[in-house]
Amino acid sequence: MKETKILAIETSCDETAAAIVVNGRDVRSNVISTQIDLHTKFGGVVPEIASRMHVEKINIVIREALEKANMTLDDIDAIGVTYGPGLVGALLVGVVAAKAIAFSKNIPLVGVHHIEGHIAANYIEDKTLEPPFLCLVASGGHTHLVYVQDYHTYEIMGKTRDDAAGEAYDKVARAIGLPYPGGPKIDALSKEGNPKAFAFPKAMISDGYDFSFSGLKSAVLNYVNSAKMKGEELPVADIAASFQHTVVEVLVTKTIALAKEKGITKIALAGGVAANSGLRAGMEEACRANGFSFSYPSLILCTDNAAMIGSAAYFEYLRGARADMTLNAVPNLPLGKKL
Ligand code: KG4
Ligand code: ZN
Repeated sequence: MKETKILAIETSCDETAAAIVVNGRDVRSNVISTQIDLHTKFGGVVPEIASRMHVEKINIVIREALEKANMTLDDIDAIGVTYGPGLVGALLVGVVAAKAIAFSKNIPLVGVHHIEGHIAANYIEDKTLEPPFLCLVASGGHTHLVYVQDYHTYEIMGKTRDDAAGEAYDKVARAIGLPYPGGPKIDALSKEGNPKAFAFPKAMISDGYDFSFSGLKSAVLNYVNSAKMKGEELPVADIAASFQHTVVEVLVTKTIALAKEKGITKIALAGGVAANSGLRAGMEEACRANGFSFSYPSLILCTDNAAMIGSAAYFEYLRGARADMTLNAVPNLPLGKKL
């Protein structure tokens, strides 16, 4: 089988990343330069700082990805790049770098949707996974139930009406004094707490397939504020465990209910929140109980990386998708829109 080697670039948020992926599932290198330490002191991602850091790091990261894969640009068959959704200034750095390489080497350019990349992380992890399947995509900016009909056709069956799951994690973490990004910290702390200590609201749990996390977030913040006003010590581990228990129950319940209704028997997770230990365990158990297969990416492939973009780019490349030098960053790019 002919090897198609894709150099993939991802700069949609606070990770400058480049990877080499062969035939969509074989990762030869996956280099990530994270800016988390820079943004932590501001409590979240500062877009202008993110763009400037991407400019500083992009060439270094691309060179390292090629070196680690033992390749040069002459070995590369196509360039894949995230062009949305994300921070416009951050996306632009990756898009411009990708266009420059594609132009100077005269090789095809493929634009990739960031969320389609997250979903494709599952193809790297589980080499036998093929659509159709139902994917719960939960990240800092998205909470979507996506029906992946084939490698190019995505249908959003449910989504958050307000905060994304990761956003709720980050805001609750901040309220209980944990640094950005809060998701992994709450996940770790929740192991020391009682998940039943607080009965936080499970918004819309049996009402359709959309999500709402702002009521849950407000309930936690209200409790924290009133405890602080009374001068009480915060039971942070119990808050973390109860919050996580609530989020996981809502995510798992809706995913399984939708799968049953649609007659889908394959479930996958994607996005930064897919790294959550409670969500992985809860979904695994529910899938086993219902006889569904279950895929989830390894930790490094859950949060932003370029290998997942290289996988998604490959399947788009096979379809014949080609971007030209007019490719631009699209901060609110809708899922499933094809170039
Ligand atoms: O996919 P991602 O790296 O960036 C976006 O596209 O948004 O996701 C980042 C989000 C952050 O909100 C972070 O707190 C959350 O994923 N996250 C987690 C965990 N690891 C990362 N949330 C819960 N538990 C985790 N273990
Ligand atoms: Zn992401």
